[in-house]
Amino acid sequence: EPLLPPDLSKCSTPSGLPQGIKTECCPPFSDEIIDFKPPLRAPLRVRPAAHAVDSEYIAKYNEATKRMRELDENDPRNFMQQAKVHCAYCNGSYDQVNYPELDIQVHNSWLFFPFHRWYLHFYEKILGKLIDDPTFALPFWNWDHPSGMQMPAMFTNKSSALYDEKRSNKHQPPSIVDLNFSTKDEKSYQEQVNENLSVMYQSMVSGAKLPLLFFGEPYSQGSEKEPGAGTVERTPHTAVHIWGGSERNREPNGEDMGNFYSAGRDPLFYCHHANVDRMWNLWKTVGGPKRKDIKDPDFLDAAFLFYDENARLVRVKVRDCLDTKRLGYIYEDVPLPWLYKKQ
Ligand code: C2O
Repeated sequence: EPLLPPDLSKCSTPSGLPQGIKTECCPPFSDEIIDFKPPLRAPLRVRPAAHAVDSEYIAKYNEATKRMRELDENDPRNFMQQAKVHCAYCNGSYDQVNYPELDIQVHNSWLFFPFHRWYLHFYEKILGKLIDDPTFALPFWNWDHPSGMQMPAMFTNKSSALYDEKRSNKHQPPSIVDLNFSTKDEKSYQEQVNENLSVMYQSMVSGAKLPLLFFGEPYSQGSEKEPGAGTVERTPHTAVHIWGGSERNREPNGEDMGNFYSAGRDPLFYCHHANVDRMWNLWKTVGGPKRKDIKDPDFLDAAFLFYDENARLVRVKVRDCLDTKRLGYIYEDVPLPWLYKKQ
């Protein structure tokens, strides 16, 4: 059986927070739930590469994020409320409906890609609504291309709503992202770029020839959490989180980007995840008969709840997010230098 959406009336203090951290992550309660319907006629939103956008785009994105931060703190569309969505689904605020002894956890399983796709979808629609621009599309952090391997500049402007204090000091531009980051840095520019392209090739091409390798292990109703991550979730996804979060001597849990409960508090999160989401689309185009979405109904009918741009609570299923065009967005086409990068 597929995972059921959480029961918001039973949302509780997260059970899986790092030691010493106290925070609440439940969304405002509502029992009026509507089912998601794909938009009939809507302008196509084209998500651009973050390093290449113009100042007009940055001003718009900044303004939308500022307005999101300024919404009433109990408005489910408020920036901190949006950040809490991640915490609630990842740090154990929700039990599985028929299995109260099991927490819902959307990471390290096949729910990773679809959960985050839906999460960004609503986040993007809220931003667009706040600036009255239904074509507004989130930028993607193009860390799989040498020209996008730095933290995108728009996020590092201290007076911007896109700025977050709790980030790595060492990894500000011009530091090159390490897609395999876990230990120490310091490789030469060219070594790091080559290594990054190899990571991409492994995660997208040589190591992900079958759907479960790419998506991660099955997770259904009654499953224990975190059965196993797919290639991209493991590397580069998690590595980039840790790379972007504060050094541990400043923030012991790597806040904000480097920890589940706090990651959504950094606007950079949504830019990082847009590129992760883009990898799902690209993977299906890499070739071979097996690079297809999973057909198991336990995957297709797994469901989540999100608040939409009109603050209505929406029930969504994985099956409705497989094709981003049906959700009303695509990604700008840019070169893929890792595609033929052998080891
Ligand atoms: Cu929900 Cu990048 O983590």
